[in-house]
Amino acid sequence: MDAWLAIASKRDVREYADTPVPEDVLTRILDAGRLSGSARNRQQWNFVVVETAQVELAATVHAPSNVLGAALVVAIVGAAGGMDVGRCAQNMMLAAWNDGVASCPNGINDPEAAARICGDEVKTILSFGYPAKPRDPQSRTPEEWSARANRKPLAELVRKI
Ligand SMILES: Cc1cc2nc3c(=O)[nH]c(=O)nc-3n(C[C@H](O)[C@H](O)[C@H](O)COP(=O)(O)O)c2cc1C
Repeated sequence: MDAWLAIASKRDVREYADTPVPEDVLTRILDAGRLSGSARNRQQWNFVVVETAQVELAATVHAPSNVLGAALVVAIVGAAGGMDVGRCAQNMMLAAWNDGVASCPNGINDPEAAARICGDEVKTILSFGYPAKPRDPQSRTPEEWSARANRKPLAELVRKI
């Protein structure tokens, strides 16, 4: 998928099909995280693929159903700062969307419990899965996706100095 189309059509999805995420897609998602730039290239992150602890980890986030219903859950853990975590998370989610896999970041309610389960400080928990309601990015142009997005207009966001 064209990068601009992927950016423009990506929405956070919270309801997923049962279809598992294939191993090659998982590898690309994780590699997209690995490839992310970070301050001074410090890469202060690890990626925890949640297999047996999904139910336990779901209890630590704001919206447990996002995690309980996901076909794949990845926690970004470690000392990485907010900017670095955001770049890494968005890279993973866009790589997933390139393969038709939707995603949603999850805010954490109980950071201590999340850290105990994942073995390190948890910066974000990403849920992934094929969307329960399929959405075809190619059905619209990037400009059409952009125009439909529930976002503030550029005129409100941009100023020149
Ligand atoms: C740091 C962060 C935490 C978020 N936490 C949650 C969450 O706990 N539960 C949830 O359903 N969505 C969560 N989201 C998703 C936002 O609600 C979503 O990005 C926003 O509503 C735009 O959604 P859209 O791309 O589908 O329009 C989070 C997003 C970010 C960036």
